Amino acid sequence: MGNWKMNGSLLTIKTLCEALNGIADTSAHVDMAVCVPSPYLFYARTNLKGVCLGAQNVSHHDDGAYTGEISTSMLKDFDCQYVLAGHSERRALYAETNVEVALKAKKITDAGMTAVVCIGESLDQRLSGELEKILFEQIRVLFSYLSLKALANIVIAYEPVWAIGTGLAATANQIQDVHAFIRQTITKFNENLAKNVRIVYGGSLKPSNAAEILALDDVDGGLIGGASLSGKDFGEIINQAKRKTCLR
Ligand code: 13P
Repeated sequence: MGNWKMNGSLLTIKTLCEALNGIADTSAHVDMAVCVPSPYLFYARTNLKGVCLGAQNVSHHDDGAYTGEISTSMLKDFDCQYVLAGHSERRALYAETNVEVALKAKKITDAGMTAVVCIGESLDQRLSGELEKILFEQIRVLFSYLSLKALANIVIAYEPVWAIGTGLAATANQIQDVHAFIRQTITKFNENLAKNVRIVYGGSLKPSNAAEILALDDVDGGLIGGASLSGKDFGEIINQAKRKTCLR
């Protein structure tokens, strides 16, 4: 899944959509999606073929006097299938709390879309040994607000804050350890869910490390920022994801 964040213009998004259409391969068992800046959702919906559409944020309110916000029903109008909730940039820059993230995830799943819930620790939290505590709390709050039925419609994105946009991805060992911890934690809430939930990795995922990261046992895909802004790089990452699916 690509996350274009607040990048691009109508012109560059047109070029990217064309590149993605060239990469899309509906015969492969890889779900390919891209989270587009909201003003371009209509363009992307009309022009993307074989690529699912995602949004980067949504309000946890239905509708009303919430200037600047976007509702789940608006996103449904554009056939969005995925919505990010709790990206670390939103947690850090817009003070989104675990509870707000859970409320958003609930709204998204209630509307029949998949919530891609982002969790992750800062470098300070990792260095001070708080990694597991932080992740556990992010998961606990999410699970306390969503029904089992809703939880079947979430993807967990593990995005260590220190790896986002830095060019320095977490190591394969770090990623596998954390993904296994997340799955184990979910087992405590529901064993079946833990087996089936998709846990994807994000943070400086790029063509040069995609093969190693995507091949890890508990990694079920990627959330790609910078590299998804290049059709060529995104295509190479998607090809690595296809290889893993073929090997399974
Ligand atoms: P980068 O791939 O640019 O590190 O961004 C990751 C991310 O934040 C995806 O949501």
